[in-house]
Amino acid sequence: MKVINTIAEMKEARHKLRGSVGFVPTMGYLHEGHLELVRIARAENRNVVVSIFVNPAQFGPKEDYASYPRDTERDLAMLKKERVGIVFMPSAEDMYPPGYSTWVDVEKVTERLEGAVRPGHFRGVATAVNKLFNIVDPTRAYFGQKDAQQLVVIKKMVADLNMNLEVIAVPTVREPDGLAMSSRNVYLNPEERKSALVLYKALTLAQKLWNKGETNAGLIRKEMSSLIQREPRAARIDYVSIADAETLEELARIDRPAVVSLAVKIGKPRLIDNIILGA
Ligand code: PAJ
Repeated sequence: MKVINTIAEMKEARHKLRGSVGFVPTMGYLHEGHLELVRIARAENRNVVVSIFVNPAQFGPKEDYASYPRDTERDLAMLKKERVGIVFMPSAEDMYPPGYSTWVDVEKVTERLEGAVRPGHFRGVATAVNKLFNIVDPTRAYFGQKDAQQLVVIKKMVADLNMNLEVIAVPTVREPDGLAMSSRNVYLNPEERKSALVLYKALTLAQKLWNKGETNAGLIRKEMSSLIQREPRAARIDYVSIADAETLEELARIDRPAVVSLAVKIGKPRLIDNIILGA
């Protein structure tokens, strides 16, 4: 496994690769969710490139950039086990040198949900991912359904800018009790870890109502919210949304594939999760 720390070296190494390249962009502190993306990339491509880059551009001034969990040695050991060919770990200075001034702004689908709560977040994500795509030049790039809006944003960017690669969505990997795996789960204390399950419970409730034939999105949202409000450690609901899976416009009735998503603060950490209905 080759570990590459500069953009110039990564470009050079890319030129030498023959056959398809599967690319998995990450911010590190890897878990089974990330590894699932890596395994699928391995199965579908001759070469696999994983990037680890905690992208400062996607964190707000009050967010956790400085304290975002990092453990490079552990990450590299995990990727070596998965027989990854190249790990790309650029520095922030290499990605955003002094005077850097070009940004990718995907409109509309970034306005709501995470975009509304985290202004500038998706501009940072789209810019970094666009740069990584230019550097790694992948055949296919792998993203988790866990970050449903991010997936929509990346797909839209790739389509709108005619990028020559395929975006592959990978289903959310969960802990045995249902909690979606996330690097930020380490912030949860044992009590909060128990309460965090309320996100999955609310999504399961939506799934059950839908299975019974309920298509009234407002009613399902209300049932989900009241279930979360009964959880004493659920400090704040940022949103409970049932939206068109492609445009992310809020639905009154579930009459097409819909993404049911929510963001809830459990103690200090803020967790997100989602499921797809009717796809
Ligand atoms: P990060 O949060 O490290 O996630 C990297 C990839 O792993 C994303 O595509 C994310 O959706 C996926 N992922 C995380 N948890 C998952 C889970 N439980 N199941 C399946 N997939 C999961 O998302 C980012 O980094 C950044 O925004 C990035 C795309 C790297 C741009 O900086």
